[in-house]
Amino acid sequence: AQPKSCKNFLDLSGVSKQDLHDIITLGKQMKALQEERKYPLHPAEPLKGKTIALIFSKPSTRTRVSFEVGIRQLGGNPIVLSTDTMQIGRGETIADTARVLSRFVDCMVLRTGCTNDLLELAELSSVPVINGLTPASHPAQVMADIMTFEEHKGPIKGRTVAWLGDGNNVANSFIEAAAQFEFTLNLATPTNFQPSKQVLAWAQQQGAKIHLISSPHEAVKNADAVVTDTWVSMSDNEDEKLARLKALQPYQVNKELMSCAAKDAIFLHCLPAHIGEEVTEEVFESKQSVVFDEAENRLHAHKAILIWALMGDDWQKYGSR
Ligand code: CP
Ligand code: NVA
Repeated sequence: AQPKSCKNFLDLSGVSKQDLHDIITLGKQMKALQEERKYPLHPAEPLKGKTIALIFSKPSTRTRVSFEVGIRQLGGNPIVLSTDTMQIGRGETIADTARVLSRFVDCMVLRTGCTNDLLELAELSSVPVINGLTPASHPAQVMADIMTFEEHKGPIKGRTVAWLGDGNNVANSFIEAAAQFEFTLNLATPTNFQPSKQVLAWAQQQGAKIHLISSPHEAVKNADAVVTDTWVSMSDNEDEKLARLKALQPYQVNKELMSCAAKDAIFLHCLPAHIGEEVTEEVFESKQSVVFDEAENRLHAHKAILIWALMGDDWQKYGSR
């Protein structure tokens, strides 16, 4: 394959610190611009004439709808595709799909149960590819999480975030975020459900302040945000479900645990939530919970990622009207 000159958004480790910071700024500007206008179409319609394929091999509510709405608000055309209605579902290769779709569309967003499929799609596509979740990471989600943190608590640099529970795809992206946005990340996960060793090694090499702490109470101490996610992800084996729920029980985010975090700490969860498992209803519905702002910010953050990927070197100018 020819090395491609376009930008992919595959993982937070693959985008420069400065660009990530500027994408967050643009996401905030996208939100402000939309709030100030009754009709939410971006005044410059930066994606006019562009078509973006949203390809899903796993269920999605937030990622799918926020990308589709965001693309429309930027003046572009989204096409939502499910892999079981594509020839991929009958065995056509990712390599051929990448080369065919590159001739039709200007960008692809992929959610897949196979991390290598995303890498292969990106390698063989001649248009930008955006990660819409893999078993290994969920970087677009964590961009919305950073934006939400900053909206509620100010700049995240130098602050402390606690991750409780499964060391899953979202946790891996938080580890990369800790390195790129320079915040402290305390992770409390059971020994069998640790985050990726490679991702940890990369972040530590970057000088990230990441602490693996066995006690959930220790992990949340002084934390400005407490974050968790489902104990059974889409890529996990359902047969392991009972063992997972048992091992993860001590990491539940409940009122007593939240009371050990900093005063006014926020609670984040990418959703969908499993009330009574990783979080209690009391915490989920509390004032500290900003999970619906977090969900909304997917829209604004995704618009910023699309503009970064598609609008060339002066992409930042789309932050103002
Ligand atoms: N948080 C998230 O990615 O949600 P969906 O699975 O609904 O897209
Ligand atoms: N960790 C979850 C996130 C869902 C948005 C999963 O992969 O299923």
